[in-house]
Amino acid sequence: MMNVLVLGSGGREHAISWKLAQSSHIQSLFIAPGNAGTATVGTNLDVDPTDFKAVRKCVVENNIQLVVVGPEDPLVKGIVDFFKTDKNLQGVGIIGPSQVGAQLEGSKDFAKKFMQRHHIPTAKYASFTKETVEEGVAFLKTMKTPYVLKADGLAAGKGVLIIEDLKTAQDELRSMLLNEKFGAASNTVVIEEFLKGIECSVFVLTDGHSYKILPEAKDYKRIGVGDTGLNTGGMGAISPVPFCTPEFMDKIESRIIIPTIKGLKAEEIEYKGFIFIGIIKVGNDPYVIEYNCRMGDPETEVVMPRIKSDLLNLLEGVVTQTLSECDLHVDDRVCSTVVTVSKGYPESYEKGKEIKGLHRADEAIVFHSGTKKSGAKIVTNGGRVLAISAYGYSISDATRKSFDAAESIEYSGKYFREDIGKDLIKMLEKI
Ligand code: AMP
Ligand code: GLY
Repeated sequence: MMNVLVLGSGGREHAISWKLAQSSHIQSLFIAPGNAGTATVGTNLDVDPTDFKAVRKCVVENNIQLVVVGPEDPLVKGIVDFFKTDKNLQGVGIIGPSQVGAQLEGSKDFAKKFMQRHHIPTAKYASFTKETVEEGVAFLKTMKTPYVLKADGLAAGKGVLIIEDLKTAQDELRSMLLNEKFGAASNTVVIEEFLKGIECSVFVLTDGHSYKILPEAKDYKRIGVGDTGLNTGGMGAISPVPFCTPEFMDKIESRIIIPTIKGLKAEEIEYKGFIFIGIIKVGNDPYVIEYNCRMGDPETEVVMPRIKSDLLNLLEGVVTQTLSECDLHVDDRVCSTVVTVSKGYPESYEKGKEIKGLHRADEAIVFHSGTKKSGAKIVTNGGRVLAISAYGYSISDATRKSFDAAESIEYSGKYFREDIGKDLIKMLEKI
């Protein structure tokens, strides 16, 4: 029996906690800082996941044996290395890569070089800094439109620009490198070849030696119906993804997953955790768009419900490097999630709106993304508020339940995309 701490406060952490709470090995489950949803499956602790000393204190006080790191920030800041070197924490298992491993997400230049070293298919690229800005401007001229410019570091999902016009791309490159458009994150800029295709998210759990491929998902990133408008943290997700056929998944495994795990091992980069690989399908071939060193949000809200095996058992297998002995059984049903957001998101929005009717969603699982308790009420506390997941025997069956529940829950300024999964339904009709 184990005491487990999940770090983070979003829908991803609610879904992970919801799944862990079902484990036969769990004694006590804590979430730091959590939200109103995680409070229904465990105990929230008011601790900032990037304040490592505060995390240590709560691990020691609550006799925690396993920590699951939800978001990328603490990983990129080195929480796993902190645990490995602190004498009070050395026996505590932690799910996530070392700081170097987290560079797969923390530095696009690092990720690109890693892929090059291990012959992992990805868009062609070159990197530039302040010193080489004019070389970058000249390099853009040799590329075809649209131009893809990426801030090297973490930029809260905003650091990628896709620009049609050469002059604008050159100006943006200068502004990223010389005027710190994305702060220190754009001290280095990666310029990439544009790849045209359809994207999906692939999740791998590894103990550094072996790995399990978790259910894949498709994420809906734009705010507006028909994939229009600004990029968001994700407006919905579907799993499984119809175009991820066994043949296509075999290519992803042999060309991308195996070389990634082998590459990490060969370079002695410690990695015990989740790898989220953003894939783009060009023709019939997979290319890596990006690595993340954590699970996706809202993808986790469809991945966790599809895992039938005990998640804590799998995570214990990661810590003890016996993952190859663990079973992973996956539910055949479709799972969809629809994210309800606050009016104005992803730009400015108001918080503190009372959420009513949560109990009405009896055909769905309501994961909380940005909520908190306020006395006896539950109120909005973020741009993304709820991720409403449902199972179905088809995409339309699952999404109907997610949409119905999203309709029935009320708060002022609620908005959700009513077309989650529609593109995939159309794609299936054509096959
Ligand atoms: P990233 O932060 O690297 O995931 O990029 C954000 C989004 O930009 C991706 O989800 C893609 O939709 C798009 N993108 C990134 N790189 C490329 C590329 N080389 N070609 C086409 N689209 C891209
Ligand atoms: N849904 C995309 C992400 O978590 O980065």
